[in-house]
Amino acid sequence: MQFDSKMEIFRTQKTLKQYLSTLNEITIGFVPTMGALHQGHLSLIKRAKEETDLVVCSIFVNPTQFNESADFENYPITHDKDISILENASCDVLYLPENVADVYQNETDFSVDLGFLATVMEGEKRPGHFDGVMRVVKLLFEITTPTKAFFGLKDFQQYSVIRKMVSDLGMEIDIVGCDIIREENGLAMSSRNALLSKTEKKDALVLSKTLKFLQENCKEGDIRKFLIEGMDALFKISIPEYLIVAESKTLKPVISLKKGIKYRAFVVAKIGNVRLIDNIEIFV
Ligand code: PAF
Repeated sequence: MQFDSKMEIFRTQKTLKQYLSTLNEITIGFVPTMGALHQGHLSLIKRAKEETDLVVCSIFVNPTQFNESADFENYPITHDKDISILENASCDVLYLPENVADVYQNETDFSVDLGFLATVMEGEKRPGHFDGVMRVVKLLFEITTPTKAFFGLKDFQQYSVIRKMVSDLGMEIDIVGCDIIREENGLAMSSRNALLSKTEKKDALVLSKTLKFLQENCKEGDIRKFLIEGMDALFKISIPEYLIVAESKTLKPVISLKKGIKYRAFVVAKIGNVRLIDNIEIFV
């Protein structure tokens, strides 16, 4: 079943829940976003359209997942543009909460032990970030009651965290990881790219180029030499936070690769004041 009518926009969870309760026996595909939508988000909407009956998107810049207030305050907000992008993509429903309280009003305590996931990469560098992400995603899942939820693999660690949360809390939601969408030159699409100047956008290519370099060179055995070379390249143009190759399943960083195990290379670097994140699969 597909819904052909105009996109419905809800500013409160109460009205959205009322609407969803009138629909029976449909599958719901949920795409949570913080807005400033780009091709990456559109690929999630497209996938959700292909795999479910009703596509619900949310736009909410969640304050609890920002560990730097300047980052939260500078987050790009482009609601009018986002709404027309979603309409053109035939999204069925948009939840655009009127305020933070609307999302958080029914919050109940829960705890998920992320274990190692909380201590590495974004877990280490952005204390409390994943707690904030889990808080809001759990609430958004409760509000939108999805059959499937779609997340971009650019935030691979976030995808792993959400899978762990859903599994630990016994939520019956299929978490679908969708491929990273890149510009032709390799830059991973991100809402934060909107904050880059023209020159910074060129400089930002150092992230994807470094990852590509690791993908082409890291084979079975010791990879330290390539990690050092990659880090050198990053330092020339950016302020790198980390460059790591890790097991895809556990996110455990490694310096030597074995056949039969799946790996990804992860990078975070600042270009000017903008913190960018990217990752790529490593084939051994
Ligand atoms: O990836 C994002 O945009 C956000 O972390 C999410 C999943 C919408 C939660 O605020």
